[in-house]
Amino acid sequence: MEEGLSRIKSFPSLATEASSNAASPVLTKPKSTLHGRLLQTAVTKPVILKDGRRLTIRNYDSSDKEALVAMYAGLSPEAVRWGLPPYDRAKVERLTSNLEYKINLIALSDSRIVGHLQIYTIPMRQMNGIGELLIYLHQDFQNVGLGTAMMREGIRETRVRGWRRVRLTVVAENHRAIRSYEKVGFEREGLSRENYFGEDGKYHDEVQMGLLIGPAEEGEGSE
Ligand SMILES: CC(C)(COP(=O)(O)OP(=O)(O)OC[C@H]1O[C@@H](n2cnc3c(N)ncnc32)[C@H](O)[C@@H]1OP(=O)(O)O)[C@@H](O)C(=O)NCCC(=O)NCCS
Repeated sequence: MEEGLSRIKSFPSLATEASSNAASPVLTKPKSTLHGRLLQTAVTKPVILKDGRRLTIRNYDSSDKEALVAMYAGLSPEAVRWGLPPYDRAKVERLTSNLEYKINLIALSDSRIVGHLQIYTIPMRQMNGIGELLIYLHQDFQNVGLGTAMMREGIRETRVRGWRRVRLTVVAENHRAIRSYEKVGFEREGLSRENYFGEDGKYHDEVQMGLLIGPAEEGEGSE
């Protein structure tokens, strides 16, 4: 078992081991439609963080847009240090358009959005079943297991849709993010040297990471 799993008490499907499926040689065929986009399942998962706080992870709904705008507007400079600003309404509009090609999960503390995960595809044949992951948590909810829990849930959803791969790019100094990606099964696949111009006026390397998705388990996605 991974280090840290004992401290975050997740409900069963949140504890799904993405990494154990990642090694599967079985090629998953997208089900029924390009990107399997019609197969989105209703996600509603309670999660208990390492510090005992209880949250809910669920699918984003269009009625959540203002709360998502508020979350991005409330991110501290440190929280977005290695990201791609601005985090304004226009960005949220882009993130929440063409939802049929996106897995969009939010984490709610009471009715406040404190985390957003997206895994999106590009609607072209060559990108079939290949998703790109982005994730942002409010600074008050970082480093207590929420990112890991949201990614496990997002990866579970890619399996249900029959996707093949999830990839991402992360600044090499974003050590916590890299650790959380590795915890859910991502592997380092490459390095882009001096590919990110930081707030500090310096260029930083970026790490390319990827995860191969195994087939959905019996009953997965039927909730
Ligand atoms: C990156 C992010 C999504 C991770 O989610 P999180 O909930 O904070 O991470 P988790 O608590 O699930 O896991 C973090 C892990 O990294 C470890 N960690 C924390 N700081 C670390 C550091 N400086 N170096 C190495 N590991 C570190 C933690 O100990 C934990 O591992 P463990 O569970 O084995 O102890 C979140 O911190 C975030 O939103 N950051 C700001 C936005 C961002 O950088 N997004 C990614 C852009 S590519």
